[in-house]
Amino acid sequence: MSPSWLVYLSACLICCLVATTTVRGLPLQEDQDAKIDIPDGRIVGGYVTDIAQCPYQISLRYKGITTPQNAYSHRCGGSIISSNEVLTAAHCVIGTVPSQYKVVAGSNYRTGSDGVITSVKEIIMHEGYFSGAAYNNDVALLILDPPLPLNNFTIKAIQLASEPPLPGAISKISGWGTTSSGGTASDVLLAVDVPIVSNEVCNQDYEDFGDETYQITKEMLCAGKRGVGGADACQGDSGGPLVVRDQLYGVVSWGNRCALADYPGVYANVAELRSWIDVNRPAL
Ligand code: ARG
Repeated sequence: MSPSWLVYLSACLICCLVATTTVRGLPLQEDQDAKIDIPDGRIVGGYVTDIAQCPYQISLRYKGITTPQNAYSHRCGGSIISSNEVLTAAHCVIGTVPSQYKVVAGSNYRTGSDGVITSVKEIIMHEGYFSGAAYNNDVALLILDPPLPLNNFTIKAIQLASEPPLPGAISKISGWGTTSSGGTASDVLLAVDVPIVSNEVCNQDYEDFGDETYQITKEMLCAGKRGVGGADACQGDSGGPLVVRDQLYGVVSWGNRCALADYPGVYANVAELRSWIDVNRPAL
């Protein structure tokens, strides 16, 4: 064999070796990148939490009226505001009846029957839902029967805020929503911390989104890492809690996809909707 052939062969060998290591190394690398990728993620950019850290969180399970043989499956989140009341989003329950739901409290899981299961006796939707702007007044009360066994640990009511949050305050959102815009839902409860964005700034961000009915009204609030992205609620988190210092300030409502740098998540503004909530709560 001539020396040039030897050089050629060893070059091939090295190439081959490099190629196999790269090919073997790459998928792992990519998997890891995918997990921290923007804009999609899970409750995007979040962390695994425990129901004891968000004991007000419930999973709203639903089944279609034409498929009574099916199991109830996770549709939305919600927050326990008393032993027999859950606050969720109007868009979660519009056009449905109470018998289509179960509420699961005290569980870390999106599926299965861990925790406590109860039924919905009444749905009280905000009558001004979608009036004035798209997704405006996106709240509904669910009256539970039997009431939940509050235990001050994994099943606990959260206080409603009476003042809107300050822009820049760090809020915690949680849920079993999708791990990417249009992706798969999380099996375990996730949470993420995101700063509140002022309505003025948020309204500018949404200036060119959708038609003119998409506006950030005072009955909404926004949260997100502006200019950064990567942290947000996503599909299936709807109806769930946005909490600042142990008070419920927001209900997951809508957004342009999920976790985009230029589009904060939009929430029903609990403090602004407080009078509706108080008037519509059944007397104890
Ligand atoms: N509408 C969605 C749902 O039904 C929630 C959207 C929240 N989106 C967001 N980017 N924060 O679950």
